[in-house]
Amino acid sequence: MASQEEVFKKIVAHCKEYGFVFPSSDIYDGLSAVYDYGQNGVELKNNIKKYWWDSMILLHENIVGIDAAIFMHPTTWKASGHVDAFNDPLIDNRDSKKRYRADVLIEDFIAKIDEKIEKEVQKAAKRFGGNFDEAMFRATNERVLQHQKERDEIHERYSKAMNDNDLAGLKQIILDCGIVCPISGTKNWTDVRQFNLMFTTEMGSTADGSMKVYLRPETAQGIFVNYLNVQKTGRMKIPFGIAQIGKAFRNEIVARQFIFRMREFEQMEMQFFVRPGEELKWFAYWKDLRLKWHKALGLGDGKYRFHDHEKLAHYANAATDIEFEMPFGFKEVEGIHSRTDFDLSRHAQFSGKKIEYFDPELNKSYTPYVIETSIGVDRMFLSIVCSSYEEQQLEGGDSRVVLKLPPVLAPVKACVMPLVKKDGLPEKAREIMNMLKFDFKCTYDEKDSIGKRYRRQDAVGTPFCITVDHDSLQDGCVTVRYRDDMKQDRVKIDDLRGIISQAVDMKNVLRKIMD
Ligand code: GAP
Repeated sequence: MASQEEVFKKIVAHCKEYGFVFPSSDIYDGLSAVYDYGQNGVELKNNIKKYWWDSMILLHENIVGIDAAIFMHPTTWKASGHVDAFNDPLIDNRDSKKRYRADVLIEDFIAKIDEKIEKEVQKAAKRFGGNFDEAMFRATNERVLQHQKERDEIHERYSKAMNDNDLAGLKQIILDCGIVCPISGTKNWTDVRQFNLMFTTEMGSTADGSMKVYLRPETAQGIFVNYLNVQKTGRMKIPFGIAQIGKAFRNEIVARQFIFRMREFEQMEMQFFVRPGEELKWFAYWKDLRLKWHKALGLGDGKYRFHDHEKLAHYANAATDIEFEMPFGFKEVEGIHSRTDFDLSRHAQFSGKKIEYFDPELNKSYTPYVIETSIGVDRMFLSIVCSSYEEQQLEGGDSRVVLKLPPVLAPVKACVMPLVKKDGLPEKAREIMNMLKFDFKCTYDEKDSIGKRYRRQDAVGTPFCITVDHDSLQDGCVTVRYRDDMKQDRVKIDDLRGIISQAVDMKNVLRKIMD
């Protein structure tokens, strides 16, 4: 059986081969951690965005959308704290001249100790078979206890150094653990320095008159600075939300795992403004609803888990991540944060504008508190593709790769195929295409054998293949072949719209969220 790493490599290759994701500027050998979405990728991505947007805007009368600019007044980022504190701790190896995130080097080292412990446990489980008491083994085995002690000590020092922003402490851990550069194999490290993740550029034409501006590292600030505009013009009453989908940019140092960590990516964020004191009730509400949103896609309930933050940012009073089981482990896809009144208060302070809400029920003004839900489109895309990818051995020695995408998100909903390229079948197939294309993204394929055409559609996740044969001209029926179980049904052409709609209509998935 292929390892998860091999499977992931295959998924990345599949994304390129079938027009989902290409490296950016591919003909120039790409640009690190920047990717382009191809003809199928863009459809899948747009469907994900629509699913999120509709779940916010259609299902909640009190949530409205905006589309703020990527460039914002530079003071925005002073107020938000990004200029001073949006940093990664970096360390260079003098021999290889390679740069690393100090925290990632240490976390990887800790992960290796965890692996050693798991190996000991697995070995023992094999040895003892059915009688194996794992808890007892972990609590008493000398080697496991030794590894665990080492792990806990490093982890404690690491957490403290990160909390205290102690860069010398981080370097000392790297030296004490004997961590070497994976390229040069040496411990010839520089000091650890803070590196700001925001990209900057100049706005304005002359050197003197130009202003340093940032490419936004999150979309959320576009919402905060528009709070007053939207509240007033939309006559919004608390509690209410503002949603936005847009690009964000971060100069990630360790960019890895394909589109998991990118330098240019897309976020879907919603800020929900509430009465102070009610924020934890709303935090619980959004935690529950966002998980339902994920689960309604049917990728498998066991693939999600919450990771509640023990260490909270100074402005937050609750935070959790929704993690998804990727081929490289459970990873954060979405964050839900209770951010108190930090953002609005800071913008009030830095802009000199009064940013408050007059609550007619309480007959008083206050700065609203905020619950934020923040999900990366690209990470969502990756989680969907990874969990949908299947290599299947079929009867008769044949095999296929199928993307079992949720039909509602599939880039192409149906492929219409004439059995042969003659006898009026292409014309009939085109007629069906023309009937369906107003409701669904369809493709037409008449090249190669039917079997090969099915495989092509399986590989991009098309839920329905519709074959027009000679009988179709007489009986007004076609063969519908279903992607997942490959079963075939003879159906009336007039029923096609209803059959496809039942499976791909977003309303059906949206209803599940609110059940
Ligand atoms: N406004 C809050 C915020 O930006 P975050 O945890 O930094 O919070 C939210 O980011 C989400 O954005 C993450 O859960 C992830 O899905 C996505 N994201 C963050 N950095 C990313 C990157 N470099 N590449 C792809 N997605 C990223």
